[in-house]
Amino acid sequence: MESRLTTKSGPLGNAALKQRSEFVSSSVAAYSSIVVDRAENSTIWDVDGKKYIDFAGGIGALNVGHCHPKIVSALQKQAARLTHSSFHVASYPAYASVCEKLCRTIPSSLPQKAALFNSGAEAVENAVKLARFFTGRSAIVSFGYAFHGRTLLCLTLNGREKVLKSGFGPFAPEIYRAPFPYSYRAPVGVSPERLTEYCLEELKRLWRSEISPDQTAALIVEPVQGEGGFIVPTPGFLKGLRELCDAHGIILIVDEVQSGFGRTGKFWAFEHEGVLPDLLVTGKSLAAGMPLSAVIGRAEIMDAPPAGAVGGTYGGNPLSCAAAQAVFEIFEKEELLKKAESIAKTVKTRFDALEKKFSAVGESRGLGAMRALELVLDKKTKAPLPADKVKKIIAECEKKGLLIIKAGIFDNVLRTLMPLTIESKDLTAGLDILESVLERFS
Ligand SMILES: Cc1ncc(COP(=O)(O)O)c(C=O)c1O
Repeated sequence: MESRLTTKSGPLGNAALKQRSEFVSSSVAAYSSIVVDRAENSTIWDVDGKKYIDFAGGIGALNVGHCHPKIVSALQKQAARLTHSSFHVASYPAYASVCEKLCRTIPSSLPQKAALFNSGAEAVENAVKLARFFTGRSAIVSFGYAFHGRTLLCLTLNGREKVLKSGFGPFAPEIYRAPFPYSYRAPVGVSPERLTEYCLEELKRLWRSEISPDQTAALIVEPVQGEGGFIVPTPGFLKGLRELCDAHGIILIVDEVQSGFGRTGKFWAFEHEGVLPDLLVTGKSLAAGMPLSAVIGRAEIMDAPPAGAVGGTYGGNPLSCAAAQAVFEIFEKEELLKKAESIAKTVKTRFDALEKKFSAVGESRGLGAMRALELVLDKKTKAPLPADKVKKIIAECEKKGLLIIKAGIFDNVLRTLMPLTIESKDLTAGLDILESVLERFS
């Protein structure tokens, strides 16, 4: 989340970075020093003509790739007809059509409804509002290392201090946090096999020491943590949460802003564990980089507040909805779930080999194509590779033409969010660059 505006590729890039430094708040993150001119599928070109393979995918917002012809055409057609009316003022069919498509992805026998927003954080905020209104309770439990966004409520939910929380208090009240099963860094004395049980027991302890379950409106959980470092919970954890929610009348909010839309090889990551959310939050790849997010959930919860309590001027903008409709079409026509599986196989094989080969690779992990490498100084102690070294690795990748980003509470996890449409030659070339750079740092 720090600024890294040092490696420049040419005069136009330099000028743009200079302007950025002078006029753009330095509190806005700069993960790379690339100044983009244009992009196509998994390739981006900077303003000086240098080409990069994109393993960041706009932080997971481009599962269908950059500027897919169907997205471009949908946007062009929509721009010529209607760019905004505000759905509150005059509705348009595309909004309801996106909601219908989203509802049909939920494998539930109960009727589902959806509402559209602009960003992941805004959707999370609204999911919390809906859960509170429906249950008449106020407490929300989130999990260690979680990331749900940068608005005040979301950063209160986040399980990461630097740089997301420091200095921004006081935080929103009635938010509690329970441990998340991070098996690579399990608490001392807890084996990975016992981690699910340990975390569920800790949640029950929280319900004895801090807040009663009958005051708890919702649990909010990422089925695979994104910014936390691509942490896949230990088997049975999500099922355990579902059972506890059922036992106490608590709403289970599943945040799939990063893990959804095929990233893990299934449309939603929750499908891997066969766990159904009461409310599902999505964003990012929903509209191929256009600002759009959604809450989908049981109709009785979605319909509980009065008209006007949920929404906003731009939520479900016609252009974003046109892009989202094209995204659904692309997923079906191009069988992107199958492609995600094939990418997952390739990346997992390569990453597992890197874990064996390099002393700096502590763990290769992930679910489907949501894969990561946790970098360490020492495999035995698991001391994280210092953030400045990770920065150097990322900068070296950038020099060699690969855009890749980090994650993790120690900023020591390299994550892959390449478009699911990436050609295999580009996937291999990107992985080759990463391997050659890690070789120098191991
Ligand atoms: C799981 C998760 N939830 C919520 C958000 C917030 O989304 P946005 O940045 O669109 O507000 C993110 C962003 O990375 C995320 O990964």
